[in-house]
Amino acid sequence: MPQPSAPFTVLDHPLIQHKLSHLRARTTSKKQFRELVDEITTLMAYEVTRDLALEPVEVRTPLESMTAHRIRGKKLVVVPILRAGLGMVDGITRLVPSARVGHIGLYRDEETLEPVSYYFKIPGSPGGREFIVVDPMLATGGSAKAAVSRLKEAGARSIRFMCLVAAPEGVGALSEAHPDVPIFAAALDRQLSDQGFILPGLGDAGDRLFGTR
Ligand code: PRP
Repeated sequence: MPQPSAPFTVLDHPLIQHKLSHLRARTTSKKQFRELVDEITTLMAYEVTRDLALEPVEVRTPLESMTAHRIRGKKLVVVPILRAGLGMVDGITRLVPSARVGHIGLYRDEETLEPVSYYFKIPGSPGGREFIVVDPMLATGGSAKAAVSRLKEAGARSIRFMCLVAAPEGVGALSEAHPDVPIFAAALDRQLSDQGFILPGLGDAGDRLFGTR
């Protein structure tokens, strides 16, 4: 029987699409690129966190006491896939300052396109936390699949994946491997190139963020 695939959501708010058009442009500077990644992530975070659990808290207003609701911020863990995912961390922690941050180091072997793991560090008690894995690009899906598998091995049970630009191949691969992980993107692009780049895409997000090419 075919597995139900994970929900895939394109967050096509006009502000996100506007900023994404600047992000894609080859003339966009490193400074602007970093700022745009940050801003788009914040706009997306609003929707990606829509179903986070709330807990009641007693609040005394200037007039009387009431029961209000707050998110359990410490339960949220933002996990960038290094390097490029780092550019998306502040965009979420600005909204949820008490969120924890884990790190997963993966790079794509340029010949095989297979992810190679070089770092893994997340907060304790992962079973009770909500993880948001962030990476600007979902290309073949190899890195995202490996990151989610590694989190599950460590005990994570609630994981969502957030990227800026996704290729259909990556969405298919991630949702087939992890049908329980919802995927959020700012855009679904046309295809992967023979070299594994997203087309039309935005180039290599890591190199554009950090100026390494
Ligand atoms: C890029 C990108 C993703 C990965 C996507 O990282 O940031 O992590 O490739 O490709 P995939 O879906 O085919 O796995 P890269 O390997 O260039 O490393 P970097 O972030 O250090 O630049």
